[in-house]
Amino acid sequence: MKALSVIIAMYLVVLGSTWASGQTARGNPKEGQAVYEKNCLRCHGNKLDGKGPESQDLIVRPASLRSLITQSKSDWELLVAISNGVLFSPMHSFRGKLTDQQMLDVLSYIRAVSPPDVVS
Ligand code: HEC
Repeated sequence: MKALSVIIAMYLVVLGSTWASGQTARGNPKEGQAVYEKNCLRCHGNKLDGKGPESQDLIVRPASLRSLITQSKSDWELLVAISNGVLFSPMHSFRGKLTDQQMLDVLSYIRAVSPPDVVS
């Protein structure tokens, strides 16, 4: 499990350097919205505030993706959460369910809907 995380983390470093070299490699927020509505909305809510229809039943409440805490994290940290999941929470891994492009798309949607107040 640990080795797998390391491999994924290394992969994301490579992905990260691709972004630095060309903005065009970034996600498409329009595509991301569709991915979000299909996979994330039930927990994170249609306002991204963590109050989705299923959130009431969860012991660990979904994060508000609009919060300063989440928005001040780097793209990297959020992508790791999406691709690996968050330990001991209902936020499971989306690796294998979403393509890398879809993860970038959904990330850009999250950023577009609530732009960070702080410069990261
Ligand atoms: C089954 C419910 C559920 C689904 C579906 C879900 N999440 Fe989550 N998500 C959570 C929970 C619970 C947390 C963890 C909250 C915590 O630990 O504070 C979380 C955390 C996160 C975080 C980390 C936030 C932070 O500040 O570190 C991100 C990013 C995230 N989710 C994005 C997504 C995206 C994108 C999708 C869809 C592809 C998605 N989630 C689908 C429940 C869900």
